[in-house]
Amino acid sequence: MARTLQTQGAVIETSEAQIAVHWREEEYYYPSAKFVGQANLTDPNVVERFSEKNFPECFREYADMLSWDQYWQTTLDTSDPPFWKWFVGGKINASYNCVDRHLAKYKNKAALIFVPEPESEAPVSVTYRELYVRVNEFAALLRDFCGLKSGDRVTIHMPMVPELPISMLACARLGVIHSVVFGGFSGEACGMRVADSQSQVLITMDGYYRNGKLLDHKAASEISLEIAKKEGQTVDKVLVWRRHPGKNASASPFVKGRDFFVDEVLPKYAGELVAPVPMDAEAPLFLMYTSGSTGKPKGCQHRTGGYLAYVTGTSKYIQDIHPEDVYWCMADIGWITGHSYIVYGPLALAATSVIYEGVPTYPDAGRVWRIAERLDVNIFHTSPTAIRMLRKAGHDEPPKYNYHFKHMTTVGEPIEPEVWRWYHDTVGKGEAVIVDTWWQTENGGFLCSTKPALDPMKPGSAGPGVPGIFPVIYDENNQEIAAGSGKAGNICIRNPWPGIMQTIWGDHDRFVTQYYTKYCKNRNSKDWHDWPYFASDGAVLAADGYFRILGRVDDVINVAGHRLGTKEIESACLTVPEVAEAAVVPVADEIKGRVPEVYIALKPGVQASPAIVDKVNKAIETMIGKIARPKHIHIVPDMPKTRSGKLMRRVLAALSNNMNTGDISTLANPDIVENIRELVQGKEAVALADGPEDLKKFGTED
Ligand code: PRX
Repeated sequence: MARTLQTQGAVIETSEAQIAVHWREEEYYYPSAKFVGQANLTDPNVVERFSEKNFPECFREYADMLSWDQYWQTTLDTSDPPFWKWFVGGKINASYNCVDRHLAKYKNKAALIFVPEPESEAPVSVTYRELYVRVNEFAALLRDFCGLKSGDRVTIHMPMVPELPISMLACARLGVIHSVVFGGFSGEACGMRVADSQSQVLITMDGYYRNGKLLDHKAASEISLEIAKKEGQTVDKVLVWRRHPGKNASASPFVKGRDFFVDEVLPKYAGELVAPVPMDAEAPLFLMYTSGSTGKPKGCQHRTGGYLAYVTGTSKYIQDIHPEDVYWCMADIGWITGHSYIVYGPLALAATSVIYEGVPTYPDAGRVWRIAERLDVNIFHTSPTAIRMLRKAGHDEPPKYNYHFKHMTTVGEPIEPEVWRWYHDTVGKGEAVIVDTWWQTENGGFLCSTKPALDPMKPGSAGPGVPGIFPVIYDENNQEIAAGSGKAGNICIRNPWPGIMQTIWGDHDRFVTQYYTKYCKNRNSKDWHDWPYFASDGAVLAADGYFRILGRVDDVINVAGHRLGTKEIESACLTVPEVAEAAVVPVADEIKGRVPEVYIALKPGVQASPAIVDKVNKAIETMIGKIARPKHIHIVPDMPKTRSGKLMRRVLAALSNNMNTGDISTLANPDIVENIRELVQGKEAVALADGPEDLKKFGTED
């Protein structure tokens, strides 16, 4: 929504994406006495308990929330930096902790409530007892029908249905490493991940509902298998869950001996029980692929013990989850938020976790609030993009529904204070406490957030480090930027924590260079103090110790809270034969925060045409998925380049965002800039904007 600013008589239209630029210090909001009265974490002494002097032993508090098969000997082993080991010597099973251990007290309580997108289908509750039965049966199938054992990898490409966490927990029961690929990713993207993880089994689904349509999802698996094969990985079995058992929603071919409908095989394993395998605390639990600054997504490898301890502890203290809560996180389980805060954290605490299949605004802008009312949800978790979307589509909808949230989360992108206030006043009805949680796929769980009953909220700021996390901002010269200086820099975490990934699957060197080389003080040191974790986000630290996250400082574009690598999109463009060069830049978007914009230069002799634009669009959708769809595709006569031939993405990003292009005199072809400007902005000169920090920085290190 655009708003109008009155400045010295002039009226300036400001879009929501630009509001961030005008941020000032915001006023505090305080949690209600009612919230504090019931909160899990009310002892201010937590700060002392998790202080540096008590590190790393403070994290015992989280590990002790779990049931261990064998207690650990060493809390943190730093002998091989930065490959930290947590709870060394301990043995534990994640599936046991999320399911079996709750049976005595909560067997008849809903573990999951599935809300199908069509409102004609009633929500389905899966009790802890039922979850236990289904996880066991599917684990038996994986073990006996597929021959899977601990350490094997399985790729799961599924939509938001209960069979997804059931598949994950069945893998975890056996010690099989799952790699869940977001259901909206294309067959190609899934295939690359199948190959990188060397999965022999792919678990998928025939179809699911989205925006009123039953989509054919299994079709993607054909492409995935083909791509994986090209990359040298053969998949032996494809397990296909069916949205309506007995009916097939997919028109794609069914290959006998390779493809199996789960509902046809599963009856053989009816009532079977599979003993949870006691896993080493350091055994990998799952891989989660994410985008980085190269074209190839990296498999973030997360450990069993430390990860589970960290998501359980933060779910309890920051999400304030109690077993009696109905908790709804609207993220997709195919992203890290879903892994940590739909599946593992909430279930480890015996909560009821809601899974919604479809689009938040389907069939209308009241849907989300109807679900909240019907299920009596009291904890709600979503992203700024979803909040902006719901605000735009139905500003006045929430008060029409009788639900009451005690707690709400925002995650994944910076949230504009104005949007935050709508979330607080209208969605939360002024009753709910809000946590703005900053973290990343690599981190396992929250890094910065307010402690909901202890710290005041400040719109637009994530807050201080959560217990046991010591963030710091460094400048480019390794100097710490002081609190309250108003200067932005690179946010780093000074210490290791149990939720940090172990490594990048199959690429230990990239793990070290990506996250640790930049600020490592001494490569030979075995002291963790010398190994700060570099997050690739810009941030400022206010005098009160609250961090405000400004966005990525690398080639990653955060589209609606989803990470996309510019190089990934560029590689997709280059698969179109007519394209000679491609450059992708982020552009500010009112709803999605940032979206990619594409520049292409064509091969000599090729004429620009709408057909080429279509082809590029199609290539991006096929290689990555619809989420990567660019806002515009500009066909340009040439790219701005340095004399050494380096493509200047910084200049293109400035043009796309109406920002100052800076010094272009050193380019090999400075004249092209005006040429492209006209193409993008039109003949008339446009007023220049002072873009947000991440856009100003984009491409400056090219
Ligand atoms: O730029 C930061 C942004 O999202 C990036 C991480 O994306 P991903 O690995 O997909 O994980 C998203 C969910 C944890 C970060 O580098 N980000 C995440 N949370 C916030 C945020 N930016 C501002 N405020 C947040 N609360």
